[in-house]
Amino acid sequence: MQNRYVDLIHQAFEFPQNGFELKNDTLTLYGIDLMAVVREYGTPLRLSYVPKIGEQIERARSWFAEAMAQQQYQGQYHYAYCTKSSHFRFVMEEVLDHGAHLEISSAYDVDLIERLYLSKKLDKDRVVICNGFKSPIYTQRIAKLINLGFRRIVPVLDSKDELGAYLHTIIGSFQIGIRIASEEQPDFAVYTSRLDIRYADVVDYYHEAIAGDQRVELVMLHFFINSGIQDTMYYWNEFRKAVELYCVLRKECPTLRAIDIGGGMPIPDGLDFAEGYDYQYMVSEMVGLLSETCRRHGVPEPDIWTEFGKFTVGESGALLLSVVGEKQQNDREAWYMVDSSLMTTLPDVYGIGQRFPCLPLNKWHNPVKRVNIGGQSCDQADYYNQEVNGQDVHMPELDYAEPLCIGFFHMGAYQEALSGYGGLKHCLLPAPKHLLVDRDAASGELQFQLLAPEQAPEGMLDILGY
Ligand SMILES: Cc1ncc(COP(=O)(O)O)c(C=O)c1O
Repeated sequence: MQNRYVDLIHQAFEFPQNGFELKNDTLTLYGIDLMAVVREYGTPLRLSYVPKIGEQIERARSWFAEAMAQQQYQGQYHYAYCTKSSHFRFVMEEVLDHGAHLEISSAYDVDLIERLYLSKKLDKDRVVICNGFKSPIYTQRIAKLINLGFRRIVPVLDSKDELGAYLHTIIGSFQIGIRIASEEQPDFAVYTSRLDIRYADVVDYYHEAIAGDQRVELVMLHFFINSGIQDTMYYWNEFRKAVELYCVLRKECPTLRAIDIGGGMPIPDGLDFAEGYDYQYMVSEMVGLLSETCRRHGVPEPDIWTEFGKFTVGESGALLLSVVGEKQQNDREAWYMVDSSLMTTLPDVYGIGQRFPCLPLNKWHNPVKRVNIGGQSCDQADYYNQEVNGQDVHMPELDYAEPLCIGFFHMGAYQEALSGYGGLKHCLLPAPKHLLVDRDAASGELQFQLLAPEQAPEGMLDILGY
């Protein structure tokens, strides 16, 4: 029996898959020879492959188009991008180039909208859905934008107190949405989300505060299930409740025309993802459920909005590392020490137990062994040793040729937003360099641009007052 890394992968998974391929014993992703990139730029390296962002937007559109055509659904589908998953300009520009709308979460996101407008990347016709808790500064900035003529901005009420702020500051009429507080998963610390307005209060609140006010047009009902769009009893139960409420509210509120089903479209967190998740099936079920519920209530089918964050940008990101040391701490536990901290580059790993596809870039024909991957900080939690299915992490054995290189993939969403980009880092370990990879529109040739060099110690020492 063969005992090489390459054999393990072929025995356990469909491979090649999802942009990953093995060519000349090294891994390529979306046609990028990752070892060639490492030889040119070194590690640790954060890589962003820009075209994947647009591809994801088009994939989602095609699933909804197919589901809507099959079920003769009368509403339209609109793709919005959840900016907080990655605010980088190259991400926003790619998203806007693909005609997506935006969903924002804080007062400071409004500055970003203004910048994009001034650089002519965004016009006043773009819909901007404003979610999140509205501090006074956030409502003021939203109102300012609307007064400047961004009439397609939709503040989504997170609390019953919010509307008053707009009535005092916005000139003329404006649109709003209401977001429903979902019930959390049974194993979460609280029962009901702290965000948003309770299910039971929505219709009464509409009558008390909105129905009689000529200036306010309620156009959208919004909900977001934090655990994501999953084929579980819990998800479908929450989805059904929201759709029922949409129909009940629609009968009272003729201006209501959109349902926003939030973010949460998952992306592969391991090589076995495709065996367990069928995007088209999930989208068709959602569209079907909406269609059937609207028919039962006799209300028109709403436009469907999504605001996918991780789905849009996650698969564009990769973190490439080198193994710089090996330790055997007892007869079962071998460690591969890598040249960065996993806590600071992939904070979701220790924060929420997130898993990412983790694959070697070279040495696929070496014998395979079970390893723990250790980060460079002195923190006990700075390690990675389990795949998403609970399996141990396996890697090729080291040899005396060039170092083994490892990639953590699909990490393009949230990681910098959580750990910071530059700034101070745990144990003063510098942030990796950041490489943008794009394709020339005409020739399809790969283009490389170093967005940021590896963080310099001087920058950290400056912040610290040295
Ligand atoms: C209201 C809302 N919409 C969209 C998202 C994006 O979620 P995801 O990145 O899982 O698509 C979030 C994430 O927390 C959210 O809170």
